Amino acid sequence: MPPRPLIIDCDPGVDDAIALLLALASPAEFDLLGITTVAGNVPLALTTANARRICHLAQRPDVPVYAGCPRPMLRSLITATEIHGATGLQGANLPEPTQPMPAQHAVAFLIEQFTTASAPITLATLGPPTNLAVALIQCPEIAQGIDQVVMMGGALGAGNITPAAEFNLYVDPHAARVVVEAGLPLTMLGLDVTHQVVTTPERLSALDQLGTPVGQAAAAMLRHYGQIDIERHGLAAPPLHDPCVIAYLLRPDLFAGRPMHLAVETEGRLCLGRTVANPCPNSSANATVIETADAAGIYALLTERLGKL
Ligand code: RIB
Ligand code: CA
Repeated sequence: MPPRPLIIDCDPGVDDAIALLLALASPAEFDLLGITTVAGNVPLALTTANARRICHLAQRPDVPVYAGCPRPMLRSLITATEIHGATGLQGANLPEPTQPMPAQHAVAFLIEQFTTASAPITLATLGPPTNLAVALIQCPEIAQGIDQVVMMGGALGAGNITPAAEFNLYVDPHAARVVVEAGLPLTMLGLDVTHQVVTTPERLSALDQLGTPVGQAAAAMLRHYGQIDIERHGLAAPPLHDPCVIAYLLRPDLFAGRPMHLAVETEGRLCLGRTVANPCPNSSANATVIETADAAGIYALLTERLGKL
């Protein structure tokens, strides 16, 4: 199989960083065309610098990073520094990136790639989906160049930023609604599945024991990450959200889901950003909603791949 053309849209953020490392460690499966960044976990300048730091750590300065939208479409930006730290990569002490940065805006990059692609491109969204929504509004024709969108976001059960909403879609619910209603081949990995994928001490130790700069940086970031979620959701260990998207693209057999009709609340006061999903036949579904994951298999994949960097 030729490598899959892939663009990753993200807001690094610790779990975004682990997801980027997993993708960067999988060149046989991914032709990573570029990384686009958005404001989310931390402001845009930091998410962009962090994405570049991770490419430098993975010795992949060839992968271009494009800065995107500095705020949601309508709402003011809210961040998650209490979870990711003030730098966004709490625990890691990564050098400043030195590779040159393209001047093109992330939205322009997405439009250019999806309208000129010789083969449809997969887009993984790991943060608030502002860049994709703005690209769809500016140029609806990009849909023809999209193979599939795999989105980390949403929750059929409890939220994590409010009782009703997951962070990415709460930050920009209007963008999420544009994406969900665009008729794209969409797969959603929400909290219902990512909360099954938790970083136990044994899994953390396996990364640390890789004994490489990448393994030690990953372990250092994960050691502090997501403690709040343990208390908030009664989890046994911190959940690992964004790497589930990349693991799904690498090993879909580790996951299971159903076709559903998905909608995003943009009017509510208490439920703003909530995803409402109804299982339905493929014909009337607008998304595949992933519901279960093989956590042990995901961490084995993650550790094996990061060991290659
Ligand atoms: O709710 C979890 C999601 O929000 C993850 O993508 C995390 O990085 C934050 O962006
Ligand atoms: Ca993220």
